[in-house]
Amino acid sequence: MQAAISCQQQQEQELAAELSPIEARQAKLLQPLEPSIISPEKLDYARQIIEKDKAIKPFWVNKYKNEAAKNWDKFYKRNETRFYKDRHWIEREFTVYKADQELRCLEVGCGVGNFIFPVLERNPTLFMYACDFAPHAIELVKQHEDYQQGRCSAFVCDLTKDPLTDTIPAASLDVVSSIFVLSAIPAEKLEAAVRNIKEVMKSGGMLCFRDYAVYDAAQVKFSSNPGQSMLDTNLYVRQDGTLSHFFSIEQIQSVFEQEGFTTVECDYVHRETINRAMDISIDRRFLQAKFIKQ
Ligand SMILES: C[S@@+](CC[C@H](N)C(=O)[O-])C[C@H]1O[C@@H](n2cnc3c(N)ncnc32)[C@H](O)[C@@H]1O
Repeated sequence: MQAAISCQQQQEQELAAELSPIEARQAKLLQPLEPSIISPEKLDYARQIIEKDKAIKPFWVNKYKNEAAKNWDKFYKRNETRFYKDRHWIEREFTVYKADQELRCLEVGCGVGNFIFPVLERNPTLFMYACDFAPHAIELVKQHEDYQQGRCSAFVCDLTKDPLTDTIPAASLDVVSSIFVLSAIPAEKLEAAVRNIKEVMKSGGMLCFRDYAVYDAAQVKFSSNPGQSMLDTNLYVRQDGTLSHFFSIEQIQSVFEQEGFTTVECDYVHRETINRAMDISIDRRFLQAKFIKQ
C-alpha cells in the first residue's frame, strides 16, 4: 500500500517532473521550510549520541574561544566569496523586508554579504548597515559590484565587545538580522552581543533570527566522535577553528527576553537534504525566530 504523501512532497514531485534536476533543487530551496517533523525516535537517537560526548581539554577550549575572530578571518581569506550561497529565502521567511517603506537595517555577522545584497536589490528604499569581526569579509563586501555608499555601510565590529553605537545612531534601526551568527559566539558572551544589538534598535524594531538547532544532523556528526570537538554543552569547534553552537528554543528565548525583547515567533524548522553519493537523507534542524524590542 502506498503511504500518504504530504502536500509539500506532492508539490516537490510535480516540480521535479517539470524541471531539470538543478532547477528542481533550486525550486526546493525556495519553498518554505516545514515545522520540525523529525520523528521522536530520531531525536532520541540524536540525544543519546550527544549525551555521550565530552569536552576537550580546557586549554584548547580557551584557545579556540579566544581565536574565533582570527579563524573566521582566515576562513574568508581562504574561501573568499565561494563558500556561502546568496540567501534568497530571507523575504519569504521574514516578510518585514518586503515592506515598501524606508527601513533602516543592520545585518550582524554579515560575512561576504550573501544576505544583504539580495535584500538591497529587491527593496530600493532600504538602507543596510552590515558588520562582521572578520576584516577580510568586510573587504569583500566593499568590493562587491552592488556595494553603493548611500545604500549600504559595512564595518568591522566584534559584537561581543565593540559598541555598535560607535557607527550607528542609538535607537535608530527598524530591523536587525542575525543569520547563523550567534551560533559562532560562546554562550557566556551572548548577552553582551544581544545588549549591543538592542542599543541601536528602535522600540518596536524587529530582530530576525535563524540559526542551528539542537539535534541538527551536524551536531550529531560532531558528537559521533566523542571528545574530539565539543567545547561546552552544545558548542563545538570545526576543523578550521570556527565555532558552532546549537540552540534550543528555551535558551535563545531566555537570552532575548532577559535583554528586554518580546518573542513573536520561535520555532524549530526542518529540511531534509539527500546526499545522493552516499544515498542517505540528512535531517537539518534550524531555529527561526522574530523578537521585538520593547
Ligand atoms: C556562518 S557565517 C554567516 C554569514 C552571514 N550572516 C550569512 O548568512 O551568510 C557567521 C559569521 O558571523 C561572524 N561572526 C562570528 N562571531 C562574530 C562576532 N562576535 N562579531 C561579529 N561577527 C561575528 C563570522 O565572521 C561569520 O562571518
